Amino acid sequence: MSRWLVTGAGGMLGQDLYAVLSAAGETAARASLADLDITSLEACVAAVEGHDVVVNAAAWTGVDDAETQEAQAFSVNATGAANIVRACKISGSRLVQVSTDYVFAGDATTPYGEDAPLAPRSAYGRTKAAGEWAVRAHCPESWIVRTAWLYGEYGPNFVKTMARLAVERETVSVVDDQRGQPTWTVDLSAAILSLVQVQAPFGIYHGTASGDTTWFEFAQEIFRRTGHDPARVRPTKSQAFERPAPRPAYSVLGHDAWERAGLPRPRDWRDALQRAQSVWSPSPLQNGR
Ligand SMILES: NC(=O)c1ccc[n+]([C@@H]2O[C@H](COP(=O)([O-])OP(=O)(O)OC[C@H]3O[C@@H](n4cnc5c(N)ncnc54)[C@H](OP(=O)(O)O)[C@@H]3O)[C@@H](O)[C@H]2O)c1
Repeated sequence: MSRWLVTGAGGMLGQDLYAVLSAAGETAARASLADLDITSLEACVAAVEGHDVVVNAAAWTGVDDAETQEAQAFSVNATGAANIVRACKISGSRLVQVSTDYVFAGDATTPYGEDAPLAPRSAYGRTKAAGEWAVRAHCPESWIVRTAWLYGEYGPNFVKTMARLAVERETVSVVDDQRGQPTWTVDLSAAILSLVQVQAPFGIYHGTASGDTTWFEFAQEIFRRTGHDPARVRPTKSQAFERPAPRPAYSVLGHDAWERAGLPRPRDWRDALQRAQSVWSPSPLQNGR
């Protein structure tokens, strides 16, 4: 049993992570932004003291805003991560740093391995990559868990948006030229817990669901699950949705590290979506909250 601290605990992942740790009987403390601003080294040192494991789920996640406010994003995603690293070194805590598929170029054709070279194409990706480097350089007793396409009960996400649009609109256009792995925050939280519980080798893990799909196919699946005709989802191209930050065309991550650690590979994204639908109450997959 460990004493955990979850930073960014008010966020979509942070809330489910805290719930999963508590349900597993772990001693977990949570710090949302109001409790702990990770851009302050002093505050990080004080907050981390007395905890065996820290999960840094705090981040600047505004991918488009980061294009024009990279310094601010860097202060959270890179300097903030470095502050957490320093604090963990001082207190002797182990660290789980949550990272992203955006550290890769997104132009591959086969899944990215854990050791694939980083080549971020966006400001957000650069700041998250810098956070990874801070962890790798100064905190060998750490796990970096890269995730992608997250959805969960808390916070805005694609599943909730599609469930709402299925009710509000006759048709919805969704891009079919970006491929990735929709990942449920509860599955990611359980995976993080298992890494620490089995004392898996420190290093990089890909915390995404198995299988892969496009946003278009994912939207169709959400329509189907909410009792709507998936033919109302129309395929379109990324060019039709010009956004400040480039989106990776191929964000499929490999899962070999789990197997090397003797842990099961993540379940398929469709199975996870089905499970999420059965436990969310009332289900955002039904009422589009
Ligand atoms: N969502 C995805 O699809 C996705 C994909 C890949 C990787 N990730 C990674 O997964 C992790 C969790 O993301 P999420 O989806 O849960 O994002 P989220 O809902 O935006 O949660 C991030 C939390 O961090 C807080 N925060 C921002 N600046 C902070 C600071 N200076 N100090 C402390 N807390 C601060 C935010 O507070 P406010 O909301 O009040 O600003 C928010 O509660 C992040 O590392 C993210 O990079 C997410």
